[in-house]
Amino acid sequence: MARAKFSMWGLCLIMILVLVHYQLQGAQGADAVPGLGINWGALASHPLSPHIVVNMLKDNGIKKVKLFDADSWVVSALSGTDIEVMVGIPNDQLSKFAGSSKDAEHWVKENVTKHIHGHHHVGGVNIRYVSVGNEPFMEDYKGMYVKTTLPAMQNIQNAIDKAGLGDKVKVTTALNADVYTSPTDKPSDGEFRSDVRDAIQQILSFLHQRDSPFLVNIYPFLSLFKNENFPKELAFFDGQGQTIDDKNAQYTNVFDANLDTLVWSLKKAGYPDMRIVVGEIGWPTDGNKNANPHNAKRFYQGLLKKMESKKGTPLRPGAMDMYLFSLSDEDLKSIEPGNFERHWGIFRYDGRPKFPIDFSGQGQDQWPVAAKGVVYQDRKWCVLNSDVKDLSKVPNALDFACGGADCTSLGLGCSCENLDLAGNASFAFNQYFQTRDQDVEACNFNGLATIVTQDPSRGSCLFPVEIESRSDMKMEDSKTLGQEQSCFREQKQKCELNLETGIIAKALKRLYLRYGKR
Ligand SMILES: *[C@@H]1O[C@H](CO)[C@@H](O)[C@H](O)[C@H]1NC(C)=O
Ligand SMILES: *[C@@H]1O[C@H](CO)[C@@H](O)[C@H](O)[C@H]1NC(C)=O
Repeated sequence: MARAKFSMWGLCLIMILVLVHYQLQGAQGADAVPGLGINWGALASHPLSPHIVVNMLKDNGIKKVKLFDADSWVVSALSGTDIEVMVGIPNDQLSKFAGSSKDAEHWVKENVTKHIHGHHHVGGVNIRYVSVGNEPFMEDYKGMYVKTTLPAMQNIQNAIDKAGLGDKVKVTTALNADVYTSPTDKPSDGEFRSDVRDAIQQILSFLHQRDSPFLVNIYPFLSLFKNENFPKELAFFDGQGQTIDDKNAQYTNVFDANLDTLVWSLKKAGYPDMRIVVGEIGWPTDGNKNANPHNAKRFYQGLLKKMESKKGTPLRPGAMDMYLFSLSDEDLKSIEPGNFERHWGIFRYDGRPKFPIDFSGQGQDQWPVAAKGVVYQDRKWCVLNSDVKDLSKVPNALDFACGGADCTSLGLGCSCENLDLAGNASFAFNQYFQTRDQDVEACNFNGLATIVTQDPSRGSCLFPVEIESRSDMKMEDSKTLGQEQSCFREQKQKCELNLETGIIAKALKRLYLRYGKR
């Protein structure tokens, strides 16, 4: 009897402990829904420290990441964790690895084998995939990588086999959803684009042989962005509006329709059962009228609940694998596709979340865990000097500042849309100043600008303070900074030219070549 009593108490205690544990987990973010990963890009002037990011991933229960290269600073930070990693090979290296199995072996040795086998006795990195190329068949590249992608994939896979890792590490390539189209918008009319059909046919055969997945990037936001008449509700997962009917299937969202267009294309190419992994999917929060935290929250909530339900699509019911795009904002991304490009982060540049999101897919209205241990620069901002009464010189200075920093939050439908000319200038000056690590030289603009210690943020328009960061992309070339400023002072026509050849333009060009338009 006494024993029974004891075990009753014991049982209660255990239940209490379990409850307390569950509550703590709830506050910290439970495990993410199975199959969920996140893209971790670093095209930022001040990227977060990899160790901070890895802790943030753990705090949020995220178990898979996809990288766009194999930066050893980043990859090493993942060692000793159980986080599953996809590393990448940028497009500008495809021809090198297509042409040389030695180079491929070298890459695998340095960027895969070494990491898998562990660093400084802290355990290895769980590398499972290599994405060879990033959207290499995108139409805008005009076929530039069509011939090199598969040979590079083969050489990298052979090198992996040679290293004895062939069963563990799989090779694939991240393809943009524009590699297939449907002339009628009905999934069943889907087919691979004619100019890349042969190349994809060969890649499919490779993926099939190696049991590797087809990796595809799908963006309902872009459907909306590219077509003014696109029915907005179809971009989300809780839409009550229009549907697309096709054969025996009814589509209530464009994601399902897009993925099933791929399924049809695969079927026609002879691979009806090929596994599909979504390499990128997400919603930006600024830089466009449809890009805001409200829409992003709605999109992700629907997407994550859908993943949790394992409903899949009409042609592919069941669990899905997806990598969200993206972890945090990247202020050096090319904005050629649109001003929203620098605002894909679920987290801001400093690792603070932008909106509630429940990675477990339970649909709770909860905030994810912010990055911990981020060190900010001084609480200083650069703004238009309030003594300046004649604003005639302001537009010129504003353009100059925006030419060398990220001003994509200005403009109609964006977070800083309500600023007047003076506000615009202050925002631009501050962006320029922060990007250059608050260098006093960078807050001059012929005396138009001044440093303040009171936060000029207003409403949704945030004036950031940059974080401390170690990165080779930093604007720390003071000579260039001096040149930029003196050029501006002297009001030369050549200023713009200088900007084009300046350090930012150079960095952007290099990155654009390397990573494409992602
Ligand atoms: C390993 O990857 C990094 C980052 O992507 C790259 O810079 C480096 O050249 C690679 N190493 C080799 C041997 O190719
Ligand atoms: C502020 O900048 C935005 C973006 O360039 C522009 O659309 C807007 O007209 C500017 N406002 C003023 C008052 O100049």
